[in-house]
Amino acid sequence: TLDEARANELRERIQEELKAQNAALVAHYYTDPDIQSLAEETGGCVADSLEMARFGSEHPASTLVVAGVRFMGETAKILNPEKRILMPTLEATCSLDIGCPADEFAAFCDQHPDRTVVVYANTSAAVKARSDWVVTSSCAEDIVDYLDSRGEKVLWAPDKHLGEYIRRSTQADMLLWDGSCIVHEEFKGQGLADLKATMPQAAVLAHPESPMAVVEQADVVGSTTKLIDAVRTMPNEDFIVATDRGIFYKMHEVAPDKNLIEAPTAGESATCRSCAHCPWMAMNGLENLLAVLQNGDQEIHVDAETREKALIPVQRMLDFTA
Ligand code: 13P
Ligand code: SF4
Repeated sequence: TLDEARANELRERIQEELKAQNAALVAHYYTDPDIQSLAEETGGCVADSLEMARFGSEHPASTLVVAGVRFMGETAKILNPEKRILMPTLEATCSLDIGCPADEFAAFCDQHPDRTVVVYANTSAAVKARSDWVVTSSCAEDIVDYLDSRGEKVLWAPDKHLGEYIRRSTQADMLLWDGSCIVHEEFKGQGLADLKATMPQAAVLAHPESPMAVVEQADVVGSTTKLIDAVRTMPNEDFIVATDRGIFYKMHEVAPDKNLIEAPTAGESATCRSCAHCPWMAMNGLENLLAVLQNGDQEIHVDAETREKALIPVQRMLDFTA
């Protein structure tokens, strides 16, 4: 971690660069609090993945600096080919994206031509280009419900937990790809049940990338924005939160008096690779944020053919949720 003097110096220099380059900082709720606060102070945004996409496409800046993971930068480029899209590091990926290679995915789709292809935003531009719809956790249920009402059968990728949650809630005919998020996968149903028993007054909030054993015990299941709203609006004083702990920064800001507790993970066991914090979100820091503004080297490019194909399902999502 940075000492305060260095952090302040970096923040000042980033602010100057953003202004000089007509750039806006777009950050996800899981990023470092330093980045989230800077995004807000400089007229950028801190949001869930759907609202990051929308903000970027409505903002007049000529450069967007996307602090999050790679698919968020790619979505920004798909929607805004004329803008320069930078990220603090292009290395920040996502286990869902890694677990869904475009060639294997295309072969899977080819085997099921009768199904409407719905992909989660946490995928590469090439996977989006092969889809009919892109969704995020804030609109996935509504979109699948809509497709189901039209009698369409769905091929869903890549997150199997989110897919299973939606299949149960909508009763739609869904064929699921076998992917998962390494961060949410660590939340454990038994540990949560034990914790709940010691504090029955607490509300449980879960992101639907969590396993079903966790989601089934939750009072609120939804996108990062929905979970933050729950902390603000629910009367409970205590909340057990099953998602990346980066979200606690915003939750504390909107509800400073509430008590927030991390949902239990596999803990110290050898299988715990993430322990409630996304290792790729954690790659975004003030140092590399300033560096990319100075060097412009971590720029997102998406080839024109992929971008044009991917724009159709991404735009469909934005229009559906407008
Ligand atoms: P949200 O769309 O809810 O912000 O989720 C993005 C994500 O990567 C969750 O792990
Ligand atoms: Fe991907 Fe999980 Fe990280 Fe979200 S928390 S970016 S789904 S690895």
